[in-house]
Amino acid sequence: MSFKDWFVKRSPLPEMWREHMAEYYAPKNFNIFYYAGSLLLLMVVLQFLSGFLVLAHYIPTARGAYDSVYGIMYDVHYGWLMQYMHVDGVSLIFVLLYVHMARGMLYGSYRSPREIVWIVGYTTYLAFMAEAFFGYVLPYSNLSYWAGTVITSLFKSIPFIGGWVTTLVRGGPGMSGDTLNRFMALHVTLVFMIIVGLIVLHILYLHKVGSNNPDGIEIKASKGPDGHPVDGIPFHPYYSVKDLFGFGVWLIIFGAIIFYAPTFHHIFLERTMSTPANPLKSLPDVTPPWYLSPFYAMLRSIPNKNAGIILMVVAVLFPFVLPWLDRNPVKSTRYRPITRIMLLIFFINFFVLAYLGEQPPLPKYFFAERLGAFIYVAFFVLLPFVSKFEPTRAPPARVRFRAH
Ligand code: HEM
Repeated sequence: MSFKDWFVKRSPLPEMWREHMAEYYAPKNFNIFYYAGSLLLLMVVLQFLSGFLVLAHYIPTARGAYDSVYGIMYDVHYGWLMQYMHVDGVSLIFVLLYVHMARGMLYGSYRSPREIVWIVGYTTYLAFMAEAFFGYVLPYSNLSYWAGTVITSLFKSIPFIGGWVTTLVRGGPGMSGDTLNRFMALHVTLVFMIIVGLIVLHILYLHKVGSNNPDGIEIKASKGPDGHPVDGIPFHPYYSVKDLFGFGVWLIIFGAIIFYAPTFHHIFLERTMSTPANPLKSLPDVTPPWYLSPFYAMLRSIPNKNAGIILMVVAVLFPFVLPWLDRNPVKSTRYRPITRIMLLIFFINFFVLAYLGEQPPLPKYFFAERLGAFIYVAFFVLLPFVSKFEPTRAPPARVRFRAH
């Protein structure tokens, strides 16, 4: 028996390779937006590697944390590279997450039979928010300290047990070394493992039902004599090679940011990250990083703190029910002009909210923040009605595809 036969007989890997790569038939009309999924996988691996290297020099104590991060930056060989990879990686992961989700919304990828793919994906996004927040506090800069204080104080609004939960999360009455210890445990083990587990589930659920495509047509509906979808091509080698090309282009962009614009005009790395935590010197306006700021803008749009928190939680949870809000038989917005316009407004509004969430809490922004929150909620409230009655164009019977 050859070594190959001996190995194949005992290993689940060849079968997994066939099922998920060589014989996974994906629609042949994927477009540029379909790079985001594989790029996210790449970024998670890179984030793990840079995080592992940074962790080897990080000290999770109130006295040591800031200095150790400073040391990684200036004393450790190539520490600056690990640090910037890790910091810029977060922002780029969120860029990709937003592109990936927007693509899903444009082509109706959240619709039946992919509801669970969407829900697991959205849960991963929320887990990333938590992961990013815990990581943000770890350098124990003054921004880390005050952002941690503001965010953990949101738990105080939980009725009856709010104070207890806040103390539990912080590991004491205020932010301290104990907070750093538990945030580090969450950041590097629990939440990270949850994210990895969710990503595996995400892919397994997707491969069970098959990929959607820009036309929103189920390719499994038209199969050839060999039993494979006529509009499908094996993922390997066709898309695996295409994704490798995407990796190359993306790594050039990632490298250019790390080497030439690591703070990205202080959007990826804020100025207030470079002063150590000082409990006696609060920051005039603590704003979250750009990827969380749309929700922060909505929180701030209502003067009453509890009402603001409720609005923010509702806004965060709305996308979970998206698969059931959309009631049109046509999936892709290529054939639904009204939903496409609504989505366009929704995306622009999300950008505007992100900008507003980064501004100081001045009265001149209140109206815009409220309008933004209104438009965000209105999209989800109106969708069931619009999708039911909107005129649509008939999608083609087979996917539209022009070979290049
Ligand atoms: C790190 C997080 C994530 C990773 C690594 C990931 C990875 C992937 C990959 C590799 C695919 C298949 C290729 C593709 O269609 O692009 C995919 C598809 C999909 N993902 Fe994600 N994803 C993540 C987060 C999300 C989030 C946050 C959502 C939605 C809220 C989501 C929703 C979907 C949907 C609906 C599909 C099927 C798309 C289609 O078939 O058209 N994913 N994901």
